[in-house]
Amino acid sequence: MAFLADALSRVKPSATIAVTQKARELKAKGRDVIGLGAGEPDFDTPDNIKNAAIEAIRRGETKYPPVSGIAPLREAIAKKFKRENNLDYKPEQTIVGTGGKQILFNAFMATLNPGDEVVIPTPYWVSYPEMVLLCGGTPTFAATTSANRFKLTAEALEKAITPKTKWLVLNSPSNPSGAAYTEAELRALADVLLKHPQVWVLTDDMYEHLTYGDFVFKTIAEVEPNLYDRTLTMNGVSKAYAMTGWRIGYAAGPIQLLKAMDMIQGQQTSGACTIAQWASVEALNGPQDFIATNKAIFQGRRDLVVSMLNQARGIVCPSPEGAFYVYPSCDALIGKKAPSGKVIANDEDFCAELLEAEGVAVVFGTAFGLGPNFRISYATSETLLEQACVRIQRFTASLS
Ligand SMILES: Cc1ncc(COP(=O)(O)O)c(C=O)c1O
Repeated sequence: MAFLADALSRVKPSATIAVTQKARELKAKGRDVIGLGAGEPDFDTPDNIKNAAIEAIRRGETKYPPVSGIAPLREAIAKKFKRENNLDYKPEQTIVGTGGKQILFNAFMATLNPGDEVVIPTPYWVSYPEMVLLCGGTPTFAATTSANRFKLTAEALEKAITPKTKWLVLNSPSNPSGAAYTEAELRALADVLLKHPQVWVLTDDMYEHLTYGDFVFKTIAEVEPNLYDRTLTMNGVSKAYAMTGWRIGYAAGPIQLLKAMDMIQGQQTSGACTIAQWASVEALNGPQDFIATNKAIFQGRRDLVVSMLNQARGIVCPSPEGAFYVYPSCDALIGKKAPSGKVIANDEDFCAELLEAEGVAVVFGTAFGLGPNFRISYATSETLLEQACVRIQRFTASLS
């Protein structure tokens, strides 16, 4: 009898964590490494949010929370959805989890039976397919192209849906491509979904507040109210408020789904950390000017990285609408020889040789289901980003 569960053989470890780990090891050996693999803001959590947590501890808010979340946070979430997305959710239709990650996991756990399919557009955040597999479902993939700016088209969605499809996962702005859907693009997808009433939408709006220029963020239940009864709208405080370590995510949706997720959570964690929930009440209800300040900084970094990468030989880098990632193509460099003598056969080789030759850690695109590309996280200082891009330019110029 095997000791480890069969389910484990269906999943693979996270490539983003592997790159971060490799960069850490090289640094520990004394190499000069610039890590552009991590998916978290480099800013600190604002003081008003930290103070709310300290005050909560002082007040003795240190006991188990209600499973779905403390009442003030569920009210703040309902208010947030009304204020920012024009969506009417009652506090009972919301749930707070230990990060958005747990919300997604619980939603799949609560709904997937063997054989149920989940349509995931590529490139995707690495955890979606693995979560679906762990919950016994089958991920199916709908490819996007750089010509479509990495956005799912109505035709590709129509083709991907089968009678077994239970969910479509939408992630806008996207990790890893930074692509964000306009209202018209969501409208086109909604029109397809209206023809397939068995398909639910899990929309991961984690990067909602990180969009640039005049882009206007919309979420699908807002664009098509007829999808409200089969949409789980997920969001969180990790990226917008620089709170990745506090581990608070949330969602709102139909009560029947929320009750099922509550039941799972009750047997799993009993709810997210009470103190972090009080901090999140302040994040959602308190001053929001922090968001605009960060957005402006991220936009400057995006523009710098896109411009410098497009000056690197053989790299093509679209300028995405949001998040803090770019997803350039290295297609023109496949088949070239690196300084080590190795011929670059794919994006994984490209990233490994770049790390070896220049000490720049980025994540290969095939890990996100679409290559030959690579993902750069620009959630780091302009000085380091500039140095990293100079090194990438030098590396691509050195290929023969
Ligand atoms: C697209 C996307 N969704 C969800 C998450 C999970 O966020 P958290 O669990 O920190 O709330 C991440 C984190 O990297 C992400 O990139």
